[in-house]
Amino acid sequence: MRVDIVSIFPEYFAPLDLSLIGKARANGTLRLAVHDLRLWTHDVHRTVDDTPYGGGPGMVMRPEPWGAALDSLAPDELSPDGHTLPRLLVPSPVGVPFSQALAHELAAESHLLFACGRYEGIDQRVLDHAATRMRVTEVSLGDYVLFGGEVAVLVMLEAITRLLPGVLGNAGSLDEESHAHGLLEAPVYTKPASWRGLEVPEVLRSGDHGRIARWRRDESLLRTATRRPDMIAALPPESLDKRDRAT
Ligand code: ADE
Repeated sequence: MRVDIVSIFPEYFAPLDLSLIGKARANGTLRLAVHDLRLWTHDVHRTVDDTPYGGGPGMVMRPEPWGAALDSLAPDELSPDGHTLPRLLVPSPVGVPFSQALAHELAAESHLLFACGRYEGIDQRVLDHAATRMRVTEVSLGDYVLFGGEVAVLVMLEAITRLLPGVLGNAGSLDEESHAHGLLEAPVYTKPASWRGLEVPEVLRSGDHGRIARWRRDESLLRTATRRPDMIAALPPESLDKRDRAT
């Protein structure tokens, strides 16, 4: 997968050299490039923002540098390798909610282009113009406001990269983790069996795989019902068996 990120703070993305994302970059699974938006400015001050039309607080990102950045990173002309235009993702509190389902959808793309806004956001015409020639999605991490899109991109990229084939050592963990089946995962334990007077549940030490699976399913349902009743309400009824309903 190819990923381009445009930001006025490229330094934010230094952690993408670390851990499994760093490994995915090193082995070519993830071809990631971070670009400084100010490369596409032409004035001595390398200006990227201006006051909002209509008044109000804060500053808005000017369209010219963004237009030039998107033209350069997503050119209309087909390249010799037959490239298609990237999917443009703009982190924003007014976007559609980011979710595991969206992470799966994005992990299936061949090229993502993230545009990190700052201040009060990017001039709307940048998004409207981009939408005439490529797929544009504004994405929100949640109902709160960050300083800018950089941290949101780090979060999204981590969720997406771990779904790429070969990135996780044990792909089985993808199937069992929280949100994989619309439920939160059951609690997990490791050695020692007894720690500070707290015991690992007996069933997990029993070796009885049927009982363990049932226990995990029950804990998962209980946790989800307590913490995320919205997720229980969204479960397709046929995904619950008789024993689930009793839980
Ligand atoms: N930029 C500012 N706030 C944001 C949020 N909640 N999600 C994504 N990007 C943002």
